[in-house]
Amino acid sequence: MSILFSKLPLKKQVLQTRLVVSPMCQYSAVEGHATNWHLVHLGQFAIGKASTIIQEATAVLPEGRISYGDLGLWKDEHIPALKEIVDFVHEQGALIGIQLAHAGRKASTEKPWISRSQLAPTHENGWQTVGPSAMPFHEKDHPPIAIATEDIKNIVQAFQNAAKRAVSVGYDIIEIHGAHGYLIHQFLSPLTNLRTDAYGGSFENRSRLLVEIIEAVKTVLEEQSLWLRISATDWAEGGWDIEEAVKLAKLVESMGVEVIDVSSGGNVHHQNIHVKENYQVPFAERIKAETNLVTGTVGLIKNAQQAETILKEQKADLIFIGRAYLQNPHLTTQFARDLGVDIEWLPQYERGKETL
Ligand SMILES: Cc1cc2nc3c(=O)[nH]c(=O)nc-3n(C[C@H](O)[C@H](O)[C@H](O)COP(=O)(O)O)c2cc1C
Repeated sequence: MSILFSKLPLKKQVLQTRLVVSPMCQYSAVEGHATNWHLVHLGQFAIGKASTIIQEATAVLPEGRISYGDLGLWKDEHIPALKEIVDFVHEQGALIGIQLAHAGRKASTEKPWISRSQLAPTHENGWQTVGPSAMPFHEKDHPPIAIATEDIKNIVQAFQNAAKRAVSVGYDIIEIHGAHGYLIHQFLSPLTNLRTDAYGGSFENRSRLLVEIIEAVKTVLEEQSLWLRISATDWAEGGWDIEEAVKLAKLVESMGVEVIDVSSGGNVHHQNIHVKENYQVPFAERIKAETNLVTGTVGLIKNAQQAETILKEQKADLIFIGRAYLQNPHLTTQFARDLGVDIEWLPQYERGKETL
């Protein structure tokens, strides 16, 4: 009896398996609009029987995009192309979530296959970034402008507006991107947040932006489940760590977040990570043990038995997978075969089950 292929009921939805396609930026949007690329990219996972797919980081404001090729939902005109994707995924019986994001000081980059560097505000595809404090991610980067206290409400409002649009598109899940050194994580971490107002200093103050975003987003949700992705540690001395992450998890649980998706790192250039199989699992395990949140783990999970073992040992409830889904968009059916589980394929592909 496979746990990976067992259902997980949430308050208003049922996840059909414990596998989730992790959000992955495609840098293929035009002015924030989804293109055919996104329809095929996300659609292929649904054809391959993925039960839950989280769409890439989608910016709530234009300056909150990582690159000029990021998806956005800062205006109603973005809705129709996203609706085509969501409708297609639903027609195949899968659930789809949107990851709402603001990149903060890590915004204004080139598409990674062109260059890994940041684009200056004077570059035709670049812009002035913002952040909790006027400190760049990399010493070569153009410093962000520290967001004025009175302007923080505009960021919160942008998350709420985007969430409202996401509800009208028909997404099943709204995931707030609080990880990987983007704006929310920049506020959470004492290494990147040097503010002296109500949004900096204590844990309570550093969490305030996220708390306000959750409050604002919650008020516009209908049937959607609210998820949060966090980095559990900065992997750097004096930084955000698992102790504060556990505290945050308890706080967001009390606010109605249903699933926590536990990643790590990305906030400071001098982070010291030793990446290996399951390296982020202990963070999820800790949060799962100390809260009642549905807890996801991610990172270098490459085969079905590995995923099954994590679930069996109760270290997580959900397995998020990124790159292995790029290698094989039909990974879900592959994992089922590997575990000897017979899952139903879509009728158009049913004959593909035959042994040749
Ligand atoms: C091409 C690519 C784009 C990514 N974009 C995002 C993103 O938009 N949001 C996010 O939270 N993580 C993003 N990630 C991180 C993945 O969701 C995942 O956490 C990471 O790749 C580790 O999982 P894996 O070892 O299964 O790939 C991205 C990863 C890749 C490879």
